[in-house]
Amino acid sequence: MTNNVLPKMGTDAWDSRADSEVNFWRNWVATKGGRWPEDFLHRTDRETPLIEAVDSQLEDMKLDPSTAAEILDIGSGPLSLLGYSSPNRAINLTLVDPLADAYNEILESNGIIDIPRPQKGYFETALGQLGENRFDVVWCRNALDHSIDPLLGLYNLIAMCRHGGRLILSFHPNEADGGNYGGLHQWNLNKQDDKIVLSQKGLKVDLTPLFSQQEILSVSQHNHTEQDKGDVTITLKKNCDPNLSQAMMWASAS
Ligand SMILES: C[S@@+](CC[C@H](N)C(=O)[O-])C[C@H]1O[C@@H](n2cnc3c(N)ncnc32)[C@H](O)[C@@H]1O
Repeated sequence: MTNNVLPKMGTDAWDSRADSEVNFWRNWVATKGGRWPEDFLHRTDRETPLIEAVDSQLEDMKLDPSTAAEILDIGSGPLSLLGYSSPNRAINLTLVDPLADAYNEILESNGIIDIPRPQKGYFETALGQLGENRFDVVWCRNALDHSIDPLLGLYNLIAMCRHGGRLILSFHPNEADGGNYGGLHQWNLNKQDDKIVLSQKGLKVDLTPLFSQQEILSVSQHNHTEQDKGDVTITLKKNCDPNLSQAMMWASAS
């Protein structure tokens, strides 16, 4: 099998697929969340408390309450899902998304102000942009499988997390196969037995060795229902710098 059976994955190809994503969010903002009005209110209220999944990790890390917790939401979309306030500490929330310019124009034209906004950036280059060992919590939901190079992206997510910090990665299983490789859905992430697998057009690589270099705190799975695509959430505690070469050696040995 040669590379030409796989979709083109450069930035030009990615740009050409991104219109549907911008249109989705333009409509979502203009209709105040459309079918998801609670989600819109949650993301546009400065008083929304930090969600439990993140707050509980900050509690567990026993951070000095006098310093702000550094949280990265990458692949954030226009507005973060994480919430903005905590009675326990100050929150410094950084949002990153390649479509930030379009999203900020949408927020501006709909009068959504004073809510943290995304800056432009990609998983693949965020490490150089934001720095390694930088964040207490790195959060990525329903986005890594929309990217250009998810393996590099995952490496960078771990690298940007500080030692002792947390990566919380969540995805819907098999988005590319399920969506016929439409729009930004060009990659599948899936949990297969005890492995986390990345695949495209029937080719696959086991990502588990890259996760396993860290302490895996939990892997939870909610199965697909009629209303819901299902999701997998992996929470890691970073213990060491990630090593891609060793991870790939283990992946090819298994
Ligand atoms: C389905 S939205 C999810 C938004 C948000 N995380 C949520 O859960 O509501 C996917 C987002 O991933 C972003 N994305 C796609 N490729 C990316 C990349 N290479 N780096 C960072 N974000 C990316 C898209 O621009 C889009 O805003």
